[in-house]
Amino acid sequence: MSHKIAPSILAADFLNLSKDIQMVNDSQADWFHLDIMDGLFVPNISFGMPLVGSLFKEAKKTLDVHLMIQQPDRYVQVYADLGADYYTYHIEAENHGHRIIQSIHNSGMKAGVALNPHTSLSSIEEIIQDVDLVCIMSVNPGFGGQDFIENTYEKVSRLKELILSKNSSALIEIDGGVNLENYTKLLNHGADVLVAGSTVFKSDNPTKTIAELKK
Ligand code: DX5
Ligand code: ZN
Repeated sequence: MSHKIAPSILAADFLNLSKDIQMVNDSQADWFHLDIMDGLFVPNISFGMPLVGSLFKEAKKTLDVHLMIQQPDRYVQVYADLGADYYTYHIEAENHGHRIIQSIHNSGMKAGVALNPHTSLSSIEEIIQDVDLVCIMSVNPGFGGQDFIENTYEKVSRLKELILSKNSSALIEIDGGVNLENYTKLLNHGADVLVAGSTVFKSDNPTKTIAELKK
């Protein structure tokens, strides 16, 4: 399977969102990555529901929603109704991981679990067969444009081993600080999905940058 590119809308031009969505639609990108923040789990607030709803109507690719919120079980049905494909909650924000995965699946979405940089892979050992995606945070969540944390490569290798040893089909997604210098090394360590915000939207030619990341 060739790897997937998921431009992160957090870095798009909010005054010209429609234009940026069309650019992604017409590009070689595979997914839209959407960061939802509540100002509690992370010290920032991103998009509200009306904006997400409008955005989803125009976005023509897989919709990958990353919930950086406390009690993520509260919004499973809301995002399913809006048309999300992947619902990724944070392991640090949910006491009942097995239950939320079931409810995500019951609502027709694929289930992802995200891990902060300090969170050990042992926290997902018991659910690795149940999830469709593991999102490894390669920055501290909350903001775009941060520096990539180098420990990520080794963590991705260990996650790949865990996935293979448990016969899981989970995809490995990398989120934060992905750029043209580190993406090949991430793929070589086992990454399947690369989220890229600033690297895509702050570049001179976002369409070309997406094509580069796809190589
Ligand atoms: C960080 C978000 C990321 C962010 C990545 O909290 O989860 O998705 O948009 O942005 P870049 O690619 O600029 O690090
Ligand atoms: Zn994200």
